[in-house]
Amino acid sequence: MKVTIIAGARPNFMKIAPIIRAIESAQENGLDISYRLVHTGQHYDRKLSGSFFEELNIPDPHVNLEVGSGSHAQQTAQIMVKFEEELIANPCDYVLVVGDVNSTMACAIVAKKLHIDVIHVEAGLRSFDLRMPEEINRMVTDAITDLFFTTTEQAGEHLKRAGIPEEKIHFVGNTMIDTLIANLDKLRQPEVFSQHQLAPGDYWVMTLHRPSNVDEAHKLLALLNLISENAGSKKIIFPVHPRTAKTLSELGDLPDNILITDPLPYLEFMYLVKNAAAAITDSGGIQEETTYLGVPCITLRENTERPETVDVGSNVLCGFDPEKMKKAFDDLNSGNWKAGKIPELWDGATAERIIDTLLKLS
Ligand code: UD1
Repeated sequence: MKVTIIAGARPNFMKIAPIIRAIESAQENGLDISYRLVHTGQHYDRKLSGSFFEELNIPDPHVNLEVGSGSHAQQTAQIMVKFEEELIANPCDYVLVVGDVNSTMACAIVAKKLHIDVIHVEAGLRSFDLRMPEEINRMVTDAITDLFFTTTEQAGEHLKRAGIPEEKIHFVGNTMIDTLIANLDKLRQPEVFSQHQLAPGDYWVMTLHRPSNVDEAHKLLALLNLISENAGSKKIIFPVHPRTAKTLSELGDLPDNILITDPLPYLEFMYLVKNAAAAITDSGGIQEETTYLGVPCITLRENTERPETVDVGSNVLCGFDPEKMKKAFDDLNSGNWKAGKIPELWDGATAERIIDTLLKLS
């Protein structure tokens, strides 16, 4: 069985690493499965791509389509044109896509139109917010997927409600958490820690990259001021995504307690998260990682496609509501935070379940 695996942007890399390892281990056991790794080049900076391959021991891609940045239409179209050529030249039995980035949707469409079955890992997540480009990517991908692997039971319910037959849906857990568990004893203190004499628990880690939060300078500044004013004695470590950096370059000096760094390699970033008093974020993956680690998380979004992180985990949604944010900051500062639990099957063995299922089905 030949599987082509797609990776395009930063959050994809943590999700494919354990899948590749599970395939290699099945090969070592003499099972008939091989993979071809296609990097679309959606993310190309070393700090958003290369460093993840090195640290997570992901083999070099067999091919990099080098599509780069552009508007959604340009980027999606470029990926489709180049992936179609690639797939015709290197046919396979399945195309496996993960997550919800433009590369996920673009490659799923190409595969399906070439009559190749699509596997979607992290299927069925829904924010029900069509202003989020990722929601459109999720819906389109799931509409043409043949085999669905889900992180929660609820994601499966969304798929069933959309008419997907139950036998195509497999609740297996979370491959991003596989990667976190596999690397917990390898996490590495980043330089910013010693530079600012930080200690575990005396800082917050913050990431912001959603267009709705970072594309308008006045909105981003208001957000940063509000967070800074509520941080008390805590420093705020802020690794900055290139999209956010563009807007920050239009702003003057930031409050003193916000410490800017470049995007960090995985092992350093997860060290920061694990040892933080809290995370403040608009990322999807960080809501899951903080839930696994039991670190309080304040999510600056109106909704989440990962409601289990709120219902079961350590996450609170604040949207852009200053009142809600103030309450969350007060709860955090007074130590009044809920004790979360780890969602079912987020146990480090998800990728093995995916590959076992695939081998059984074929
Ligand atoms: C993409 C994903 C988003 C994911 C995020 C993680 C989509 C629609 N969005 O958003 O779901 O949470 O990745 O980071 O797929 N840039 C660089 N270097 C790079 C890549 C991008 O400087 O290696 C800059 C470019 O100016 C680019 C901008 O970042 O225009 C945005 O990149 P893009 O891939 O379009 O979307 P992200 O915001 O990264």
